[in-house]
Amino acid sequence: METRFAVLAHLADGQFRSGEHIAGALGLSRAAVWKSVASLRALGLPVDAVRGRGYRLAQPFRLLAAEAILAGMAPARRARVVRLEILPLLDSTNAHLLRTPALPAEGFAVCLAESQSRGRGRRGRDWVSPFGANLYLSLATLLEAGPAGLDGLSLAVGVGLARALERAGAGGLGLKWPNDVIWRGRKLAGVLIELSTDRDGRARLVVGVGLNVQMPPAAATGIDQPWCDLREVLAQPVADRNALAAQVIDELVATVEAFAVEGLAPFMADWERLDVLRGCVVELQRPGRAVTGTVRGIDAAGALLLEADGGLQRVTSGEVSVRARP
Ligand code: BTN
Repeated sequence: METRFAVLAHLADGQFRSGEHIAGALGLSRAAVWKSVASLRALGLPVDAVRGRGYRLAQPFRLLAAEAILAGMAPARRARVVRLEILPLLDSTNAHLLRTPALPAEGFAVCLAESQSRGRGRRGRDWVSPFGANLYLSLATLLEAGPAGLDGLSLAVGVGLARALERAGAGGLGLKWPNDVIWRGRKLAGVLIELSTDRDGRARLVVGVGLNVQMPPAAATGIDQPWCDLREVLAQPVADRNALAAQVIDELVATVEAFAVEGLAPFMADWERLDVLRGCVVELQRPGRAVTGTVRGIDAAGALLLEADGGLQRVTSGEVSVRARP
């Protein structure tokens, strides 16, 4: 583990620890501890330093922990998680799972990061990923049946994520096609699904979820769309990111497995309940032109149905961006 994160583990409970104590425990010089503290502050973690007492985190901080996440999952879903990795810093959890050489033949590999330096959003956007504040997680699995029908999976994953957040107490959520989780017109969470082909020709599916939990105001200046976080939705701080991660992973495993057998059908009723675009006049950004029309819901494959130019057009995921008109 990088030195600064080893130092963080000593400060996580919010109690004072002297530089000498930390240096002794980690086999470092006191100057190295000081440098690590400076680098934790640069990540946005408020570390107090008091002469004669040492360092402490201004607020106790719980790092993500694999045992706590696995313990929070239902046994049947936990059994499907063959590998669970938590890293303090990655470029992108999706990129990490796409380049991991060998995936388990069965079940899911899951990866979470405390921060991402190049978090990827849809349509080439960045996903703002400050340290320890939110959830950035990806699941990877090998597909039995190839990538057909994955447009629908993207919507099912949005529904699964919304279900997990509702179980965590979030009310008033909506889904904006294809899979943005929205609250009061602002984005709470996003999904990025990516595919690659393994050497043996099997399709590798990576489902990435970014969920704003407690976004620090300084980091939020980098977000280029209306956003909210779970603290605001719940009107209280989120006590335990591990429990939340467990609920999200649990629901995503269930979602991908149900979709593989039954397609979008078991998600349709929730989609209709949560759909924020139905009946709205929207502008579709197509390459080179914009189309304006009224959203008439989705079809059985998850395509958006848009009434425009005197007809009903079928719009598939990834093809367009939808912007509600003012
Ligand atoms: C969107 O633009 O709505 C999709 C955002 C997806 C962000 C998540 S964070 C974890 C995973 N790793 C990434 O690089 N992106 C996804």
